[in-house]
Amino acid sequence: MTQFKEKYGPWALVTGANASIGKAISRNLAARGINIVGVARRQNLLAQLEKELVADYGIEVRTIQADLTEPGSISMIEQHTSDIEIGLVVPNAGFEMSGDFIDSPLERNEKMLQLNVIAPMQMARIFGAKMTQRGRGGILFTSSLFGYQGIPYVANYAAAKAYILTLGEALNVELKPHGVDVTVLSPGLTDTDMPANMPINFSRLPMFKQSPISVAQIGINALGHKATVVPGLLNKFYAWENRLIPRTWPVNLFGFLIRHAYKKDTLMAATTQKC
Ligand SMILES: NC(=O)c1ccc[n+]([C@@H]2O[C@H](COP(=O)([O-])OP(=O)(O)OC[C@H]3O[C@@H](n4cnc5c(N)ncnc54)[C@H](OP(=O)(O)O)[C@@H]3O)[C@@H](O)[C@H]2O)c1
Repeated sequence: MTQFKEKYGPWALVTGANASIGKAISRNLAARGINIVGVARRQNLLAQLEKELVADYGIEVRTIQADLTEPGSISMIEQHTSDIEIGLVVPNAGFEMSGDFIDSPLERNEKMLQLNVIAPMQMARIFGAKMTQRGRGGILFTSSLFGYQGIPYVANYAAAKAYILTLGEALNVELKPHGVDVTVLSPGLTDTDMPANMPINFSRLPMFKQSPISVAQIGINALGHKATVVPGLLNKFYAWENRLIPRTWPVNLFGFLIRHAYKKDTLMAATTQKC
């Protein structure tokens, strides 16, 4: 525990900290004595997080209400944290889009890339540079099992997660000599609001739901040990098998499975959802 705090403390910056996987990561880190800067949009849930972490773990908490789809939001967070030492960055906030790509609103696709790709890249660049100067620290990216291959009907989200996966893999090697550990956590289906709000009936897919608490634990435990980690045996198999077979096979398989798992009534709503 103490070693962990020395390596990745005193503060961790977690985006999407007020719910689901991000909240589970924040609680896990707080239990290890790490102070938390929690970022998200819903202020009431941020206030609740702060109350819980202080009461349960006696750590310091700072919350920043920010919409990370807004360009400039990461610079604003940098300014608000310039007086503290961020030893661990967890760019976890994300949203997904599903439906026919050509019918999906362009602006929403751009916002998704801003949140899922640009913001994590900026955080890694800005805070990673400070960590390399100190010669210690960590970055825990959140990709997805969907980042391991193209996923028809979730195409842009899967492509965004593939970016995070390869960025993190590369930075794991590049930053290691500077004492900075980089790990990419790629969850499969996890029991949060995200899949619950997708127009896909996941019970029709060969996937098992995991709890955010166990996903968070697996990601944090991998820091400093693994470049990439996929929680769950079946998920590991999905991530691994496409190294042995032609890349198009799993893409076609996922396309077939997802097309048949659509909740037809909600598909239109998902593809036409406004920003
Ligand atoms: N759940 C899964 O099955 C699954 C599988 C693979 C990968 N993942 C990845 O895991 C990460 C967390 O997913 P989750 O399931 O925990 O999602 P979630 O339940 O939808 O929670 C998303 C979190 O991100 C925050 N957020 C969303 N949009 C934001 C914005 N524009 N600016 C700032 N914060 C924002 C939300 O808080 P506010 O709404 O208050 O802003 C919330 O804290 C994501 O990167 C996701 O892609 C999830």
